[in-house]
Amino acid sequence: MEILTTPQELQQTRATLKGSVGFVPTMGALHKGHLSLIEKSVKENDFTIVSIFVNPTQFLPGEDFNKYPRKLEADKEICKRAKVDLLFTPTKESIYFEDEVLVKAPKVKGYILEGHFRPGHFDGVLQIVNKLLNLTRPTRAYFGKKDAQQLYLVQKMVREFYLPTKIVGCEIVRDSDGLALSSRNIYLSPQERDIALQIPRSLKRAVKLIQQGERDSKKIKEEMLKLLKPIRVEYVEIVDREFNFLEQIQPSNTIILVAGYVGSTRLIDNVWI
Ligand code: PAJ
Repeated sequence: MEILTTPQELQQTRATLKGSVGFVPTMGALHKGHLSLIEKSVKENDFTIVSIFVNPTQFLPGEDFNKYPRKLEADKEICKRAKVDLLFTPTKESIYFEDEVLVKAPKVKGYILEGHFRPGHFDGVLQIVNKLLNLTRPTRAYFGKKDAQQLYLVQKMVREFYLPTKIVGCEIVRDSDGLALSSRNIYLSPQERDIALQIPRSLKRAVKLIQQGERDSKKIKEEMLKLLKPIRVEYVEIVDREFNFLEQIQPSNTIILVAGYVGSTRLIDNVWI
């Protein structure tokens, strides 16, 4: 596995690759969720590029940028074992410029839900993903459904900027107790983890209600909020695949989303109906 740290090196190496290229952008502290994306890329492409970069521009002031887990040595091993061909680990100085050209997330879809509680977050996400897609020029790029709004906005940017990459949405990987894997789960104490389990439970409850024929979003949200009592909920919302709010469930076109704090740890989760 080759490890590159500058955009210039990556551009040069990319130009020599023949065949299909899969790309998995990450912020590191890799877990089985990331690994599932990497494995899918390795399976589907001739080459796989993974990036690890804790992107400062997507963190708001006061968020966990400084304490975000950094485990580069362990991550390198995971990538090597997974047969990643090229690992890209840029520094902030190497990939950002002074007073640089900025990508803006769409005014509506980039500023609801996650974007409402983390205003400007998606501007930073799209800024870095745009750079990374231009550097790697992948055939396919892999994103988790865990970050459903991010996946949607990246797909939208790729479409609207006519980027030649197929964005592949990948299923959420969960621990055996149901908690969606996240680099941030290591912040949770055992007691907090117990409380956090109410999030996947509330989503399961929503699925059950829908299976039983419930279609009213308001009723489903009310039932979910009962289970989410111990959590400082930021939002429980039901949208279609284009992130329009839904009053009625549309089978095969619905995403139910939860975000909230357990202690000082912010968690998100969702289910696709
Ligand atoms: P990060 O949080 O490291 O996630 C990298 C990718 O892994 C994302 O596409 C995310 O949706 C996916 N992922 C995380 N947990 C997952 C899980 N439990 N199951 C399936 N996929 C999961 O998302 C980012 O980094 C950044 O915003 C990034 C796109 C790299 C831009 O900086």
